[in-house]
Amino acid sequence: MKVALASDHGGIHIREEIKGLLEEMGLEYEDFGCDCEESVDYPDYALPVAEKVARGEFDRGILICGTGIGMSISANKVKGIRCALVHDVFSAKATRQHNDSNVLAMGERVIGPGLAREIARVWLTTEFEGGRHARRIEKLTTYEETHS
Ligand code: RB5
Repeated sequence: MKVALASDHGGIHIREEIKGLLEEMGLEYEDFGCDCEESVDYPDYALPVAEKVARGEFDRGILICGTGIGMSISANKVKGIRCALVHDVFSAKATRQHNDSNVLAMGERVIGPGLAREIARVWLTTEFEGGRHARRIEKLTTYEETHS
């Protein structure tokens, strides 16, 4: 599995934590910034990561900002992206099983590094259940294809 990772200035510490996790899990990843603590704009980091996932260059994306909200709103603008904003382990598992989410967003001002790491670990290792959930995702795909 190849993971694309990015954060704005509000998410740099959790981004580092997630890099440690990805290395520990032996997963291939690329870090798309940001490179400094100065204020940057979250769409400039979320949109390129989401596009890389949508194009199939990466299997999953992980995006961190202060709240996770800006990153998730931005990523979900990209066709084919199902970005889940998650701050608990139950939702991390459920969004993989039910929504087949391909991007995870978290907020560094909301949760600490330990919980963020566990959320990412569960999200990365939980499989999509398919079945009735696949039908629901197909409805979203159809909407995207007919309303672009
Ligand atoms: C940056 O101050 C902050 O707005 C950003 O990290 C994020 O929380 C936006 O949703």
